[in-house]
Amino acid sequence: MRISVIGCGYLGAVHAASMAKLGHEVIGFDTDEKKIEQLSHGIPPFFEPDLQEILTEGIKRGNLRFTGDISALKDASVHFLAVGTPQSQESQAADLTYVQDAIDELCRYLKPGDLVVGKSTVPVGTAEKLTEAVKPTGALLAWNPEFLREGFAVQDTISPDRIVYGVPAGDAGRKATTMLDEVYAQALVEGIPRITTDLATAELVKVSANAFLATKISFINAIAEITETVGADVITLADAIGLDDRIGRKFLGAGIGFGGGCLPKDIRAFTARAEELGKSSSVAFLKEIDAINLRRRARAAELTVEALGGQVVGKKISILGAAFKPNSDDVRDSPALDVAIRLRSLGADVTVTDPQAIDNAKRSHPHLNYEASIERALVNANAVLLATEWSEYKNLDPNWAAEVTSDMVIVDGRNCLDSIRWREAGWRYFGMGKP
Ligand code: UDX
Repeated sequence: MRISVIGCGYLGAVHAASMAKLGHEVIGFDTDEKKIEQLSHGIPPFFEPDLQEILTEGIKRGNLRFTGDISALKDASVHFLAVGTPQSQESQAADLTYVQDAIDELCRYLKPGDLVVGKSTVPVGTAEKLTEAVKPTGALLAWNPEFLREGFAVQDTISPDRIVYGVPAGDAGRKATTMLDEVYAQALVEGIPRITTDLATAELVKVSANAFLATKISFINAIAEITETVGADVITLADAIGLDDRIGRKFLGAGIGFGGGCLPKDIRAFTARAEELGKSSSVAFLKEIDAINLRRRARAAELTVEALGGQVVGKKISILGAAFKPNSDDVRDSPALDVAIRLRSLGADVTVTDPQAIDNAKRSHPHLNYEASIERALVNANAVLLATEWSEYKNLDPNWAAEVTSDMVIVDGRNCLDSIRWREAGWRYFGMGKP
């Protein structure tokens, strides 16, 4: 298939390179010229495992190119819309400016029979409105939400656990389905489940999935608030309830909570959309999910203060991790940086380290101190706070760390360290929701 991808961020760049890997003829478009320049040379503009490899392969093979000229998309017949839908500056709702601008521009080059496929996460009802905008060109519009996780984005795109098509009714829907089946032929042959539905359901599948995941994390974090009050252990509790396969252990990781470019803004946008629909009470619980999540960041800061005897002015605190999760350089709404800022505002001398995210963190939070090497970040620390569970932090040797730091105080914001090992090495260990 001749495919175009509009928007080459975390979603679009991975989608374009993955579609080329599947053998399609792909052109990626973005308005950011620097990004286009990097991608055209096979350089990912962000850290994502396996992306560089498939980018370089596609460019060498000649079936993957990038452009800043939208008219170059006119030869493609399937156009994936992968632009961002960030939280609006003025409200909790999603900002659809990029989606609207992309469609307006694209419409100038669409041909009858082309298929526009929305991938961006949008408020329910958006696809129906965009269908009207696309109609005069004779092109069709479908919605094909993306469930990729940063850090596993290539794997999740090439081999997803399900494929969802939102298509219009009747003939148009059948045509759209046939075209999408060609795009995803390999995945379908492998037996990956495909669910075909209407546009609104497809839009809602995505936001509901993210709302559910956020709820699961905040559920266990709410329980952590109780366990830490009574001296119980949230990890053992999660293991025990997770063995019930109706519940499952995944996404029951208690700690400093969720961040990133998706879960926080998606639950807020869902709440805003439900309010518009007069159904605010249906998802009122999501406000509490958000509030629980933010409370865990405050709790991590409070725990560190307690661990340091109640005051942190002038104390050196080393924060391990800036990214919102490991294997990513994404710092959008990162719990790690939020905790760092809270401690700094209390007067602590905070130093942040991260294997990949320092450059991005410096751009969004220039006032924090950064150190690329773990050793330099730990030197003379009065307390260490693990905020992102990169494997190098999980595997840190407590005896080695003890030689570098000033005091042996460790706060495990992701509950990923072996507390017994750290305590045996002489550290005062503090977990989240643990005795
Ligand atoms: C998420 C969805 O998983 C994905 O399907 C969707 O397409 C985009 O949003 P992503 O933002 O990459 O993906 O991250 P995810 O792995 O879901 O983690 C989100 C946040 O939750 C991270 O900050 C992570 O540290 C946190 N988390 C995750 C927990 O705090 N506890 C857990 O048990 C799991």
